[in-house]
Amino acid sequence: MDNLISKALRCQKTSRPPIWFMRQAGRYLPEYLALKEKYSFLELCRNPELATKVTLMPFERYSFDAAILFADILLILETLGFDLRFGQDHGPLIDTKDLLDQPFELQVQSVKEKLYYIPKTIQQLKKELTVPLLGFCGAPFTLTTYIFEGRTSKDFKVTRSWMQTRFNEMHHLLKLLTEQTIEYLLMQIHAGVDAVQIFDSWAGHFSFAEWNTFSYPYLRQIVDALCPTKVPVILFAKGSSALYEELASLKPQVISLDSSSDLLKMAKRIPSDIALQGNLDPHLLFAPLNQIEQEVKRLIQGMQNRKGYIFNLGHGLLPQTPLDAVHCVLDTLHSFEPQPC
Ligand code: CP3
Repeated sequence: MDNLISKALRCQKTSRPPIWFMRQAGRYLPEYLALKEKYSFLELCRNPELATKVTLMPFERYSFDAAILFADILLILETLGFDLRFGQDHGPLIDTKDLLDQPFELQVQSVKEKLYYIPKTIQQLKKELTVPLLGFCGAPFTLTTYIFEGRTSKDFKVTRSWMQTRFNEMHHLLKLLTEQTIEYLLMQIHAGVDAVQIFDSWAGHFSFAEWNTFSYPYLRQIVDALCPTKVPVILFAKGSSALYEELASLKPQVISLDSSSDLLKMAKRIPSDIALQGNLDPHLLFAPLNQIEQEVKRLIQGMQNRKGYIFNLGHGLLPQTPLDAVHCVLDTLHSFEPQPC
């Protein structure tokens, strides 16, 4: 992995920042939408040929420096017996049946058996890719919100009620998810991914105390379990501006920042042996191209002396993002001549 990403992941200086986008294979691509006419999202995830094809789709148009496996953080819920569905126009729906009445009775299934298609996709991709491949998972805490709420929530009422009244059962569920996640990431690593990203997407919707009690200890277990593999871990938490000290204390190789903070200020606060990723606002990609160009230049210029910087968005690419806007970011980054500062 002697390339820009591998260097940046290890906090080494690079000739320019490497770039990839969260959700770079997704609904902003007309060719993805065309494939979705024939197959459901879960069919695409579970079929190694199709998942490989979708992972590679953005590379027909753009020269990203890394690929991210086409899958979803919620697939792992099936190893705990929860049914997962994705409707055409709504997000995920999780059917917990009556399994949540007795969380201590949950039957855990083998990750290798239930998610057998994931290593097949990774092996296929490794044959075809010329850039590093990133694997990923959801943080156990973010995953529990989907179990309790059954969908993406706005107020997380059920999750909070579990935190307050079913404390031990909640921790039991988090423990199971953590064990499954470690097995899942190790499976991805053995199949060949070059780094993994952990998504704690809903961290920022909770109080610091709630996150610190219900997410932090489990993130620590995952990062520690992966340490012997030497495969870099990228930690993404929505809410990173309030949590960066705790995120840094977990010693991931990379912290991925959301768009709520100023990257250049955060770069001064986060220890220099941790690489940074981020944090262009995905909504800015709907702005006139000259505004996008200006902001991309500001970020690269400001980060030029930081060893270990990966250009990315502060969250996933949004559906309907103009294709030209993505081109504009890549062109700006590729042609940028840093000014001495
Ligand atoms: O980044 C990538 O391109 C890799 C693939 C990937 C997907 N989901 C594909 C996807 C990754 C890394 C994810 C992670 C994921 N999934 C997260 C964490 C990142 C984040 O956005 O915070 C979360 C919370 C999920 C759960 C999920 N999956 C939701 C809430 C939704 C629907 C709402 C939405 O954001 O669109 C999905 C569906 C999903 N996952 C799609 C894709 C391409 C769209 C499915 C479709 O085509 O209809």
